Amino acid sequence: MVVYQIYPRSFQDSDGDGSGDLRGVVERLDHVAALGADAIWLSPFYPSPWADGGYDVAVYQGVDPRFGTLSDADALIAAAHQRGLEVLFDVVPCHTSIEHPWFREHPDWYVWSDRDGPQNNWRATFGGPAWSRDPVSGGWYLHSFYPEQPDLNWRNPEVPKAFGEVLRFWLARGVDGFRIDALDRLLKDPQLRDDPPADGPPDLPEAHMDAGLAPRNSRNAPDIGTAVGQLRAAAPEALLVGEVYLLSDGLAPYLEHLDACFSFELLHAPWEADRVRAAIAAAAATGQAAWVLSNHDFPRLPDRVGPQNVRAAALLLLTLPGTAFLYQGDELGMADGADGGHDRAGRDRHRAPMPWDATDNHGFTAGEPWLPVDAPADGTAEQQAGDPASMLAWYQALIALRRTLDGDVEVLDAAPGVVAFRRGKHVIALNLGGEPQPPPAVREVVLATPLSDAVALPPGGAIVAVG
Ligand code: NOJ
Repeated sequence: MVVYQIYPRSFQDSDGDGSGDLRGVVERLDHVAALGADAIWLSPFYPSPWADGGYDVAVYQGVDPRFGTLSDADALIAAAHQRGLEVLFDVVPCHTSIEHPWFREHPDWYVWSDRDGPQNNWRATFGGPAWSRDPVSGGWYLHSFYPEQPDLNWRNPEVPKAFGEVLRFWLARGVDGFRIDALDRLLKDPQLRDDPPADGPPDLPEAHMDAGLAPRNSRNAPDIGTAVGQLRAAAPEALLVGEVYLLSDGLAPYLEHLDACFSFELLHAPWEADRVRAAIAAAAATGQAAWVLSNHDFPRLPDRVGPQNVRAAALLLLTLPGTAFLYQGDELGMADGADGGHDRAGRDRHRAPMPWDATDNHGFTAGEPWLPVDAPADGTAEQQAGDPASMLAWYQALIALRRTLDGDVEVLDAAPGVVAFRRGKHVIALNLGGEPQPPPAVREVVLATPLSDAVALPPGGAIVAVG
């Protein structure tokens, strides 16, 4: 499958308030269908005070008025299905917004310190202690992310029960699956013991790496599979994709119950042949990788791999087997935008609105956009449509080609700086180095970024070939 990630606030505004909304998504679904995607994943649009870009949910079974109504959600599901697109919603089981009624009605559904202060040395992902004092009760609650996001206590059986109802609510409205947020945080050490000192850099980059702790007790408890299994039990037939922020070799207890987990190892791999090869091999070994190179949390592709490597990165993403996730705007070559001062962790830049056309605000809104809308160097969606040399055409061609690829990944020996792998009769090769390199022996080039001559793969160049 190719799943197209929509960040609803930045996709299309239909009512002129400057923020994208669900009706706007429907207006632009033809763009997604024309790309050839199989499904859409919508980041949260639930009622939220927006302390964490919508990942602080105040009502799970509802739609924030800024995005529309429940009937708009129903209409969106129907409109996607009409176009043959499956629909994944984003669910956030680790924490609620502090404004969710559960926090006051069911305080025992959350994790509390039994001291007048933090229970342990755990740190929050976005900095500071993971414990804050609730000014109403005076107690100290745990928050793995912002203080506005108290962690639910998945060791209280009422919590999986309540969350199962959330999944069933949306399944009954027709969604096909879920992207499940921050799954490795669902169960922590039952005794809430301190995290030990780190003995090296973290496995994957952390937003705040200042504490020098190894997050061994604050996440990914040995019995984590119990909680993941409870989510699966509530949605036996749904497509479930886990956001688990661990290396591929730690994903087994999650993959036992889920269809796929994102491969963050590849997303974060420095653009060096050895590292990319190793990340592909590790994720492919799980047999259930959800490949992803970009999302609303991390710098855009031109900012991370360099503009000259963006086409090769797209080719890599879309030729790996299984499920590939494509973030809105990547198909236009979007780079990071401006910081609007909304997200305290500085992620506004990765959430700039879509540049559709040459009208005001590039067609995103008739009002004042919540973040500036810039056209990428490759042009707006309208400029790129119909141009066979455009980034958009490149993505369309790759998705069409993807349908013809089969077989597992076999990583091949290749020239220094070249990543090459076989899938069935096809060979895929990318030059990540600074010098032109010979591609592996191939019979026929099926798709290539411009080759400088018939034999050399230029830096940033990539091919799919029969070999
Ligand atoms: C992962 C989400 O993608 C991110 O945007 C959010 O801040 C954290 N989980 C916490 O929900």
